[in-house]
Amino acid sequence: MTLNTRPLTPSVGLEVLGVDLRHIDMPQVADLASCLDRASALLVRGQTLTPRELVAFSRRLGTLDEAPVNETGKTVVEGLPELYVVSNIKDANGVAIGSLGAGEAVWHTDMSYLENPPDASALYAIEIPSEGGDTWIAGMAAALDAMPAGLRARIEGRRIKHDGTYNSGGYVRQGVTPTDDPLTAPGALHPAIIQHPRSSREALYLGRRRNAWIEGMERAKSDALLDALWAHATRPEFTYKHRWQVGDLLIWDNRATLHRRDPFDPAARRLMHRTQISGKSIPISA
Ligand code: OGA
Ligand code: MN
Repeated sequence: MTLNTRPLTPSVGLEVLGVDLRHIDMPQVADLASCLDRASALLVRGQTLTPRELVAFSRRLGTLDEAPVNETGKTVVEGLPELYVVSNIKDANGVAIGSLGAGEAVWHTDMSYLENPPDASALYAIEIPSEGGDTWIAGMAAALDAMPAGLRARIEGRRIKHDGTYNSGGYVRQGVTPTDDPLTAPGALHPAIIQHPRSSREALYLGRRRNAWIEGMERAKSDALLDALWAHATRPEFTYKHRWQVGDLLIWDNRATLHRRDPFDPAARRLMHRTQISGKSIPISA
């Protein structure tokens, strides 16, 4: 161990102390990666990362995805296709410079509507509103460990359809025809319980609630079971609530967590940069 860490909560997250991510060495990068595998989320405060430095650091954790196109159809920063902007700020023409607006971003894990979703996402704070806009992380290994056996039995061996129609802010994704029928909506089927590719730990893998469907189940039954799973998965004891400071980097493992964001005053400014580390393998059944 070369890094100094402390738990964020008993069930999810570690804070990594005293590092400058622009200058960490190879053993520290390896340590960071194993901390992320173990704790499912990492917080590193006090960073000063240009877009290029954020991308360069992120790349040390794995191959990066190109950023998804934002809600206005723009691929964000010129020359840095890996950088995604999460912001409510509007440019001189009144067009949003990033995604997700100022409303709530409901519980989700990133891009699970793809066959091979990103392994991890890294979100870096540049401008923060004086209140609201907190980001919550829920640990899905802890949630599964604490799940009543009867509930678990109902999803063993099952797959869940993860919707690709709406993003977590409720916006329709670029090029998609809005629908509320999970059977015909774009998306991917993934095992409800997955095994982490490196730690081998099992986790509940829910993706997002809207338009979700448990394969092969009658819609009403599927909805009732999903509601029970979501109520369990987002219980406070599995969550960490992050109050942002400028210079914070929060990294989450998309195979082992959910996250959400509180709404904030639309007149306030919030600017975040995000990268995503590509999925090395599709989510596999536990
Ligand atoms: C994201 C996301 C929440 C936030 O970038 O994937 O969900 O707090 N962001 O901005
Ligand atoms: Mn997200």
